[in-house]
Amino acid sequence: MTIGLDDVIAAETVLSDVDGLQGRLVMRGRSLDDLAGHAGYEAVMALLFDGFFERAPASWQAALGAARREVFEHLSFADPALVAQEPIDAMRALTARIADGDEPATALRLVAAPAVFTTGLVRLRNGLRPIAPDASLGHAADILRMAGLPAEPLQARALDTYLVTVADHGLNASTFASRVVASTRAGLVSSVLAAISALKGPLHGGAPGPVLDMLDAIGRADHARAWLEAALNRGDRLMGFGHRVYRVRDPRADALKAALGPLLRDGRADRERAALAQEIEAAALDTLRRRKPGRTLETNVEFYTALLLDALGFQRDTFTCVFAMGRVAGWIAHAREQASTGRLIRPQSRYVGPPVGEAQER
Ligand code: ACO
Repeated sequence: MTIGLDDVIAAETVLSDVDGLQGRLVMRGRSLDDLAGHAGYEAVMALLFDGFFERAPASWQAALGAARREVFEHLSFADPALVAQEPIDAMRALTARIADGDEPATALRLVAAPAVFTTGLVRLRNGLRPIAPDASLGHAADILRMAGLPAEPLQARALDTYLVTVADHGLNASTFASRVVASTRAGLVSSVLAAISALKGPLHGGAPGPVLDMLDAIGRADHARAWLEAALNRGDRLMGFGHRVYRVRDPRADALKAALGPLLRDGRADRERAALAQEIEAAALDTLRRRKPGRTLETNVEFYTALLLDALGFQRDTFTCVFAMGRVAGWIAHAREQASTGRLIRPQSRYVGPPVGEAQER
């Protein structure tokens, strides 16, 4: 028995393959190298959804634009108590307002939801009016526009590459949560709500904000090694490093590093900060090699997620929500695949409590 299900095959999927030894990610037969920076997010969403809906819209891009406009209405239910919550919690609460179902229309509303709700909620928190979606734009460009961030083609391309890079990734914790719920036939909204809840944890999608906190706390390259050693001495994990499946560098880290390049060259991203981050990355890898010799701990997707989303102007407490904006397509495709081909997911636990008769009275 494996606690943590490390080597357990819990589903068969046509959606994505994570090769942890070669450092390779494949989505429906297309490698990440082939997709990131080449295919747009809507095209990758359509690729993931292909065959999982009986009545697909004529244009997924146009239908997604229309869905953004539809879910925008729910922002009027964001009362001050909701707006004051962490963005991921408030975004999840508004997503729960969407009626459950398994139709393409529900799927599209769910893809639109993290984008429309997060950008609108952050503006409300800052005392600004939410910006209504523009259905004619691509998803990435409209996200930046709705967030009130620079949305020229340079930035839109970088965000689009990010959304594609994180769109699907095997049976990660949030996707597994989505499949568990889908296996009970509960519907797509329920599956996505479970996935958002799993994503928010710092060991999964909650890591990139703390990556920036770490870079800020270190501050200077010559402080890095002492700071990193002290963190490991406290038993802390270094955010943005290590992965359950990859035993080599996470290929998504390189895709995102490449996406950051044009922003740096164009002066839209802080070159000094990026240079410091690379020095800290090298110091962290070296420190982890010495301190954890039995375990290969390499840079994961979250390290360059933090740098890229920061360069695009997203606030760090929204990074996990931006992750959800991309991963939601994978969650939905997996939920549909599970509901149509899988069985109820119901593993067993091993009882290690007291035998009958030995339990102490409380
Ligand atoms: N920093 C320091 N030590 C680490 C790190 C890290 N980032 N990652 C793993 N380790 C250590 C563990 O402490 C453990 O050491 P020990 O055996 O001496 O106790 C050993 O490496 C193995 O750890 P596991 O818990 O088996 O690793 P697991 O596969 O369960 O964890 C995880 C993977 C959660 C990603 C882990 O590497 C981690 O916590 N990383 C930091 C958080 C992070 O970046 N999360 C984002 C992951 S990518 C994603 O989810 C999108």
